[in-house]
Amino acid sequence: MMGKLLLWVLAVFGAASALAGAFGAIVYYGGFIDVSADTPHEAIVFKFIEDARERAIARRVRDITPPADLSDPERVGRGAGNYQAMCVDCHLAPGMPNSEIRRGLYPTPPDLTKSPIERESTNVAARRFWIIKHGIKASAMPAWSKGGIEDSAIWDLTAFLGRLPALTPEQYQDMVAASEGHSHSGLVEMGHDAPPGHVDKPGSKPHTH
Ligand code: HEC
Repeated sequence: MMGKLLLWVLAVFGAASALAGAFGAIVYYGGFIDVSADTPHEAIVFKFIEDARERAIARRVRDITPPADLSDPERVGRGAGNYQAMCVDCHLAPGMPNSEIRRGLYPTPPDLTKSPIERESTNVAARRFWIIKHGIKASAMPAWSKGGIEDSAIWDLTAFLGRLPALTPEQYQDMVAASEGHSHSGLVEMGHDAPPGHVDKPGSKPHTH
């Protein structure tokens, strides 16, 4: 009696697995996976990717200790110029309208003028340092270390991000003007290209096409 039941359970389980496999093969080989950036993932898929990303980052940042002088005004100031040159198109600046590139990206780059979402058990600064350094696969976030930016300059950017949400558009512009601009200190020279796209001045009107 028990043996028969077990056989049935196994048969049903096997058939279900085969069906799921066939369905997966049709979706995969038939080209049914939607890779376009203008249709969002199902909520459950998005949640799954986000969760996997956060677990992976949390694991990798455990041993990263932020430098003690992260709030040093000089560090923060150095980060401002590089942020304006390399990050605003995707992550915005105080008073800046949404950019063309950001509207089209999926996942949408977080607006870094807003305070960060609390992530349990992860140090905000270490997490940001890691993301800026290594980037995030299959999103538009570049691994800036591959672009030639050294760790010290990445900590400058991280330091600046800590101040960013508190800045008014005027304060932001003053800090950018006072910094060394797109400074090449901390950039290993390697035929460094211009930053992606044009850079809208914060507060400037978006151009029309
Ligand atoms: C071409 C667009 C693009 C550029 C340029 C860019 N980023 Fe990003 N960034 C992204 C995207 C997209 C994400 C979100 C990735 C995800 O959700 O998996 C991201 C995520 C981040 C995060 C994590 C934010 C959070 O709270 O989860 C930080 C920090 C960050 N970027 C910093 C920077 C800095 C600093 C620069 C400039 C040196 C920069 N990014 C330039 C697209 C960009």
